[in-house]
Amino acid sequence: MSQAVKLIDALNGTFGRHNGYRVSHAKGFTAQGRFCPAAEEPRVQIPMLNNECKVTARFSVGGGKPGISDKSPTVRGIGLEIGNGSDSWVLTLISNPVFFANSAAQFRAFLAARIPDPDTGAPDPKLVEAFNEANPNTVPHQQYLKSVVPCRCYSSEQYHSGHAYRFDWSGREISARILLEPEGGRLALSKEEMETLSDDFLHDRFLEKLCDGPARWSLKLVIANAADNVSDPTVLWSGTHTMVDLGTIQVELPDDRSESTKKVFDPTRMPEGVRAPLDDVFSLRSGAYAESAARRSV
Ligand code: HEM
Repeated sequence: MSQAVKLIDALNGTFGRHNGYRVSHAKGFTAQGRFCPAAEEPRVQIPMLNNECKVTARFSVGGGKPGISDKSPTVRGIGLEIGNGSDSWVLTLISNPVFFANSAAQFRAFLAARIPDPDTGAPDPKLVEAFNEANPNTVPHQQYLKSVVPCRCYSSEQYHSGHAYRFDWSGREISARILLEPEGGRLALSKEEMETLSDDFLHDRFLEKLCDGPARWSLKLVIANAADNVSDPTVLWSGTHTMVDLGTIQVELPDDRSESTKKVFDPTRMPEGVRAPLDDVFSLRSGAYAESAARRSV
Protein backbone atom coordinates (compact mmCIF):
# COMPACT_ATOMS: atom_id res chain seq x y z
CA MET A 1 0.00 0.00 0.00
CA SER A 2 1.43 3.41 -0.93
CA GLN A 3 2.24 6.06 1.68
CA ALA A 4 -0.44 8.36 0.19
CA VAL A 5 -3.12 5.66 0.53
CA LYS A 6 -2.13 5.04 4.17
CA LEU A 7 -2.34 8.77 4.98
CA ILE A 8 -5.73 9.15 3.32
CA ASP A 9 -7.04 5.96 4.96
CA ALA A 10 -5.97 7.46 8.32
CA LEU A 11 -8.00 10.64 7.62
CA ASN A 12 -11.02 8.62 6.45
CA GLY A 13 -10.65 6.38 9.53
CA THR A 14 -11.06 9.33 11.91
CA PHE A 15 -13.49 11.56 10.01
CA GLY A 16 -15.45 8.96 8.02
CA ARG A 17 -15.78 8.84 4.25
CA HIS A 18 -17.89 11.60 2.66
CA ASN A 19 -18.12 11.12 -1.08
CA GLY A 20 -17.64 14.23 -3.18
CA TYR A 21 -15.75 16.08 -0.43
CA ARG A 22 -12.07 16.65 0.26
CA VAL A 23 -10.71 14.08 2.72
CA SER A 24 -9.33 16.94 4.81
CA HIS A 25 -10.61 20.54 4.96
CA ALA A 26 -13.90 19.10 3.65
CA LYS A 27 -16.02 22.15 4.45
CA GLY A 28 -15.19 25.22 2.38
CA PHE A 29 -15.83 27.42 -0.60
CA THR A 30 -13.90 29.10 -3.39
CA ALA A 31 -13.37 32.73 -4.36
CA GLN A 32 -11.32 34.74 -6.85
CA GLY A 33 -9.17 37.83 -6.74
CA ARG A 34 -5.70 39.02 -7.53
CA PHE A 35 -2.14 39.39 -6.27
CA CYS A 36 -0.72 42.94 -6.32
CA PRO A 37 3.10 43.28 -5.98
CA ALA A 38 4.60 45.23 -3.07
CA ALA A 39 5.37 48.90 -3.82
CA GLU A 40 9.01 48.34 -2.91
CA GLU A 41 10.71 45.48 -4.77
CA PRO A 42 11.63 42.77 -2.22
CA ARG A 43 15.25 41.60 -1.92
CA VAL A 44 14.00 38.05 -2.53
CA GLN A 45 13.60 37.45 -6.28
CA ILE A 46 10.43 35.62 -7.32
CA PRO A 47 9.96 36.89 -10.90
CA MET A 48 6.28 35.91 -11.26
CA LEU A 49 5.42 38.16 -8.29
CA ASN A 50 6.72 41.26 -10.12
CA ASN A 51 3.37 41.61 -11.90
CA GLU A 52 -0.27 41.64 -10.87
CA CYS A 53 -1.85 38.22 -11.45
CA LYS A 54 -5.04 36.24 -10.87
CA VAL A 55 -5.65 34.37 -7.59
CA THR A 56 -8.01 31.50 -6.83
CA ALA A 57 -8.60 30.97 -3.10
CA ARG A 58 -10.42 28.27 -1.14
CA PHE A 59 -11.36 28.91 2.48
CA SER A 60 -11.96 25.93 4.73
CA VAL A 61 -12.44 24.54 8.22
CA GLY A 62 -9.92 21.81 9.11
CA GLY A 63 -10.80 18.13 9.35
CA GLY A 64 -12.68 15.76 7.10
CA LYS A 65 -16.25 16.43 8.26
CA PRO A 66 -18.33 18.50 5.79
CA GLY A 67 -20.82 19.37 8.57
CA ILE A 68 -18.27 20.65 11.14
CA SER A 69 -19.30 23.82 13.01
CA ASP A 70 -17.65 27.09 11.98
CA LYS A 71 -17.22 27.76 15.72
CA SER A 72 -15.20 24.58 16.33
CA PRO A 73 -11.76 24.90 17.92
CA THR A 74 -9.82 23.59 14.94
CA VAL A 75 -7.75 25.23 12.21
CA ARG A 76 -9.10 27.40 9.40
CA GLY A 77 -7.38 26.96 6.04
CA ILE A 78 -6.72 28.81 2.83
CA GLY A 79 -5.67 27.26 -0.46
CA LEU A 80 -4.17 29.82 -2.85
CA GLU A 81 -3.28 29.52 -6.49
CA ILE A 82 -1.32 32.65 -7.39
CA GLY A 83 -1.14 32.98 -11.19
CA ASN A 84 -1.88 29.98 -13.31
CA GLY A 85 -0.05 27.84 -15.80
CA SER A 86 3.51 26.59 -15.39
CA ASP A 87 4.94 29.53 -13.40
CA SER A 88 2.41 29.75 -10.58
CA TRP A 89 2.54 29.32 -6.78
CA VAL A 90 0.16 27.15 -4.80
CA LEU A 91 0.14 27.77 -1.05
CA THR A 92 -2.03 25.82 1.38
CA LEU A 93 -1.84 27.55 4.74
CA ILE A 94 -3.51 27.14 8.13
CA SER A 95 -4.48 29.48 10.94
CA ASN A 96 -2.09 27.72 13.33
CA PRO A 97 1.58 28.82 13.32
CA VAL A 98 2.64 25.16 13.57
CA PHE A 99 1.45 21.81 12.16
CA PHE A 100 0.44 18.78 14.23
CA ALA A 101 2.97 16.23 12.93
CA ASN A 102 6.52 16.10 11.59
CA SER A 103 6.41 12.71 9.83
CA ALA A 104 4.01 10.33 8.08
CA ALA A 105 4.00 7.97 11.08
CA GLN A 106 3.18 10.79 13.50
CA PHE A 107 0.41 12.13 11.22
CA ARG A 108 -1.25 8.70 11.21
CA ALA A 109 -0.76 8.14 14.95
CA PHE A 110 -2.25 11.59 15.73
CA LEU A 111 -5.37 10.65 13.77
CA ALA A 112 -5.54 7.11 15.17
CA ALA A 113 -5.62 8.55 18.72
CA ARG A 114 -8.68 10.60 17.71
CA ILE A 115 -10.89 7.90 16.17
CA PRO A 116 -14.25 8.54 17.83
CA ASP A 117 -15.23 6.14 20.62
CA PRO A 118 -18.47 4.46 19.41
CA ASP A 119 -20.08 4.98 22.87
CA THR A 120 -19.44 8.73 23.14
CA GLY A 121 -18.94 9.79 19.51
CA ALA A 122 -15.82 11.68 20.71
CA PRO A 123 -12.12 10.78 20.90
CA ASP A 124 -11.09 8.83 24.01
CA PRO A 125 -9.28 11.44 26.21
CA LYS A 126 -6.98 8.72 27.61
CA LEU A 127 -5.74 7.84 24.10
CA VAL A 128 -5.19 11.53 23.28
CA GLU A 129 -3.27 12.02 26.53
CA ALA A 130 -1.10 8.96 25.88
CA PHE A 131 -0.37 10.22 22.34
CA ASN A 132 0.59 13.66 23.67
CA GLU A 133 2.92 12.17 26.27
CA ALA A 134 4.67 10.07 23.65
CA ASN A 135 4.75 12.95 21.09
CA PRO A 136 5.46 16.19 23.00
CA ASN A 137 6.48 18.03 19.79
CA THR A 138 2.82 17.91 18.65
CA VAL A 139 1.49 19.69 21.76
CA PRO A 140 2.17 23.35 20.69
CA HIS A 141 -0.33 22.94 17.82
CA GLN A 142 -3.02 21.79 20.27
CA GLN A 143 -2.09 24.45 22.84
CA TYR A 144 -2.41 27.20 20.23
CA LEU A 145 -5.94 26.06 19.33
CA LYS A 146 -6.88 26.10 23.03
CA SER A 147 -5.43 29.60 23.44
CA VAL A 148 -7.43 31.38 20.70
CA VAL A 149 -11.14 32.02 20.09
CA PRO A 150 -12.15 31.11 16.50
CA CYS A 151 -11.99 33.93 13.94
CA ARG A 152 -14.99 36.19 13.29
CA CYS A 153 -14.55 35.97 9.49
CA TYR A 154 -12.17 34.21 7.09
CA SER A 155 -11.02 37.73 6.15
CA SER A 156 -9.85 38.42 9.70
CA GLU A 157 -7.76 35.27 10.12
CA GLN A 158 -4.01 34.92 9.68
CA TYR A 159 -2.62 31.91 7.85
CA HIS A 160 0.79 30.19 8.14
CA SER A 161 2.82 27.67 6.15
CA GLY A 162 4.53 25.79 8.99
CA HIS A 163 7.06 24.74 6.34
CA ALA A 164 10.18 26.86 5.80
CA TYR A 165 10.70 27.48 2.08
CA ARG A 166 14.12 28.43 0.68
CA PHE A 167 14.95 31.61 -1.25
CA ASP A 168 17.97 33.50 -2.57
CA TRP A 169 18.77 36.68 -0.64
CA SER A 170 21.58 38.73 -2.18
CA GLY A 171 23.49 35.62 -3.20
CA ARG A 172 22.91 33.45 -0.10
CA GLU A 173 20.18 30.98 0.74
CA ILE A 174 17.67 31.88 3.43
CA SER A 175 14.75 29.89 4.87
CA ALA A 176 11.41 31.53 5.61
CA ARG A 177 7.93 30.56 6.70
CA ILE A 178 4.99 32.18 4.90
CA LEU A 179 2.54 34.42 6.76
CA LEU A 180 -0.68 35.82 5.33
CA GLU A 181 -1.56 38.76 7.57
CA PRO A 182 -5.10 40.18 7.35
CA GLU A 183 -5.67 43.90 6.83
CA GLY A 184 -6.95 45.06 10.22
CA GLY A 185 -5.33 42.17 12.11
CA ARG A 186 -6.78 38.96 13.53
CA LEU A 187 -10.28 39.30 15.00
CA ALA A 188 -11.94 36.65 17.17
CA LEU A 189 -15.65 35.94 17.71
CA SER A 190 -17.17 37.75 20.68
CA LYS A 191 -18.73 35.72 23.51
CA GLU A 192 -22.17 36.69 22.27
CA GLU A 193 -21.37 35.65 18.69
CA MET A 194 -20.10 32.28 19.95
CA GLU A 195 -23.49 31.74 21.53
CA THR A 196 -25.80 33.13 18.85
CA LEU A 197 -24.23 32.58 15.41
CA SER A 198 -25.23 29.57 13.31
CA ASP A 199 -22.75 26.75 12.74
CA ASP A 200 -22.40 27.84 9.12
CA PHE A 201 -21.86 31.60 9.50
CA LEU A 202 -18.43 31.82 7.84
CA HIS A 203 -19.64 31.61 4.22
CA ASP A 204 -22.35 34.30 4.50
CA ARG A 205 -20.23 36.60 6.65
CA PHE A 206 -17.40 36.46 4.12
CA LEU A 207 -19.79 37.29 1.25
CA GLU A 208 -21.16 40.24 3.27
CA LYS A 209 -17.59 41.44 3.75
CA LEU A 210 -16.99 41.25 -0.04
CA CYS A 211 -20.08 43.42 -0.66
CA ASP A 212 -18.25 46.21 1.21
CA GLY A 213 -15.01 45.71 -0.75
CA PRO A 214 -12.21 43.17 -1.23
CA ALA A 215 -10.67 41.16 1.60
CA ARG A 216 -6.93 41.83 1.76
CA TRP A 217 -3.89 40.14 3.28
CA SER A 218 -0.18 40.94 3.13
CA LEU A 219 1.82 38.00 1.84
CA LYS A 220 4.97 37.94 3.96
CA LEU A 221 8.12 35.94 4.46
CA VAL A 222 9.13 35.38 8.09
CA ILE A 223 12.89 34.90 7.80
CA ALA A 224 14.42 32.20 10.00
CA ASN A 225 17.01 33.21 12.58
CA ALA A 226 20.07 31.02 13.05
CA ALA A 227 18.45 29.32 16.09
CA ASP A 228 15.17 28.46 14.35
CA ASN A 229 14.32 24.89 13.39
CA VAL A 230 13.71 24.97 9.62
CA SER A 231 13.13 21.25 9.15
CA ASP A 232 10.25 20.60 11.56
CA PRO A 233 6.85 22.30 11.01
CA THR A 234 5.70 21.41 14.57
CA VAL A 235 8.31 23.70 16.19
CA LEU A 236 7.34 27.28 17.13
CA TRP A 237 9.84 30.02 16.30
CA SER A 238 10.38 32.45 19.14
CA GLY A 239 11.75 35.98 19.31
CA THR A 240 11.65 38.66 16.64
CA HIS A 241 12.03 37.99 12.94
CA THR A 242 12.81 40.01 9.84
CA MET A 243 9.72 40.10 7.62
CA VAL A 244 9.64 40.66 3.88
CA ASP A 245 6.46 41.97 2.28
CA LEU A 246 5.92 40.28 -1.09
CA GLY A 247 2.63 42.01 -1.93
CA THR A 248 -1.11 41.87 -1.34
CA ILE A 249 -3.56 39.02 -1.82
CA GLN A 250 -6.91 40.59 -2.56
CA VAL A 251 -10.05 38.41 -2.70
CA GLU A 252 -12.94 40.01 -4.55
CA LEU A 253 -15.72 37.63 -5.60
CA PRO A 254 -17.17 34.23 -4.76
CA ASP A 255 -16.40 31.66 -7.44
CA ASP A 256 -18.42 28.46 -7.62
CA ARG A 257 -17.36 27.41 -11.12
CA SER A 258 -16.45 23.72 -11.03
CA GLU A 259 -12.93 24.40 -12.42
CA SER A 260 -12.32 26.37 -9.19
CA THR A 261 -14.21 24.24 -6.66
CA LYS A 262 -12.50 21.06 -7.91
CA LYS A 263 -9.01 22.55 -7.88
CA VAL A 264 -6.29 20.59 -6.12
CA PHE A 265 -4.14 23.00 -4.10
CA ASP A 266 -0.96 20.95 -4.33
CA PRO A 267 1.75 23.04 -2.64
CA THR A 268 4.57 21.39 -4.57
CA ARG A 269 3.66 23.77 -7.46
CA MET A 270 6.24 26.52 -6.90
CA PRO A 271 7.52 29.28 -9.20
CA GLU A 272 11.09 30.20 -10.16
CA GLY A 273 12.79 31.65 -7.07
CA VAL A 274 11.07 29.38 -4.50
CA ARG A 275 12.67 26.10 -3.38
CA ALA A 276 10.98 23.26 -1.50
CA PRO A 277 11.15 23.08 2.30
CA LEU A 278 13.54 20.49 3.73
CA ASP A 279 11.28 18.69 6.20
CA ASP A 280 9.68 15.24 6.26
CA VAL A 281 6.10 16.52 5.74
CA PHE A 282 6.23 18.61 2.56
CA SER A 283 7.10 15.67 0.30
CA LEU A 284 4.07 13.72 1.61
CA ARG A 285 1.56 16.29 0.47
CA SER A 286 1.45 15.96 -3.32
CA GLY A 287 0.62 12.23 -3.30
CA ALA A 288 -1.90 12.62 -0.46
CA TYR A 289 -3.72 15.49 -2.21
CA ALA A 290 -3.88 13.48 -5.46
CA GLU A 291 -5.32 10.47 -3.61
CA SER A 292 -7.90 12.70 -1.91
CA ALA A 293 -8.84 14.24 -5.28
CA ALA A 294 -9.25 10.76 -6.77
CA ARG A 295 -11.55 9.74 -3.90
CA ARG A 296 -13.62 12.93 -4.01
CA SER A 297 -14.33 12.54 -7.71
CA VAL A 298 -15.85 9.03 -7.39
C1 HEM B 1 1.37 14.82 6.25
C2 HEM B 1 1.07 16.01 5.72
C3 HEM B 1 -0.29 16.36 5.17
C4 HEM B 1 -1.25 15.55 4.65
C5 HEM B 1 -1.22 14.05 4.48
C6 HEM B 1 -2.36 16.41 4.28
C7 HEM B 1 -3.55 15.98 3.73
C8 HEM B 1 -4.49 16.79 3.13
C9 HEM B 1 -5.54 16.36 2.24
C10 HEM B 1 -5.79 14.92 1.84
C11 HEM B 1 -6.23 17.44 1.83
C12 HEM B 1 -7.39 17.49 0.85
C13 HEM B 1 -6.79 17.67 -0.55
C14 HEM B 1 -7.79 17.72 -1.68
O1 HEM B 1 -8.76 16.93 -1.72
O2 HEM B 1 -7.60 18.57 -2.59
C15 HEM B 1 -5.64 18.58 2.50
C16 HEM B 1 -6.07 19.87 2.36
C17 HEM B 1 -5.48 20.92 2.98
N1 HEM B 1 -4.33 20.91 3.75
FE1 HEM B 1 -3.19 19.34 4.14
N2 HEM B 1 -2.05 17.70 4.59
C18 HEM B 1 -0.79 17.72 5.13
C19 HEM B 1 -0.09 18.81 5.57
C20 HEM B 1 -0.59 20.08 5.59
C21 HEM B 1 0.11 21.24 6.09
C22 HEM B 1 1.54 21.21 6.66
C23 HEM B 1 -0.72 22.31 5.93
C24 HEM B 1 -0.48 23.75 6.28
C25 HEM B 1 0.35 24.14 7.23
C26 HEM B 1 -1.94 21.83 5.30
C27 HEM B 1 -3.03 22.62 4.95
C28 HEM B 1 -4.09 22.19 4.17
C29 HEM B 1 -5.14 23.06 3.67
C30 HEM B 1 -5.28 24.57 3.90
C31 HEM B 1 -5.99 22.27 2.91
C32 HEM B 1 -7.24 22.72 2.14
C33 HEM B 1 -6.87 22.94 0.67
C34 HEM B 1 -8.13 23.18 -0.16
O3 HEM B 1 -8.94 24.04 0.22
O4 HEM B 1 -8.28 22.50 -1.21
N3 HEM B 1 -1.83 20.47 5.13
N4 HEM B 1 -4.58 18.16 3.28
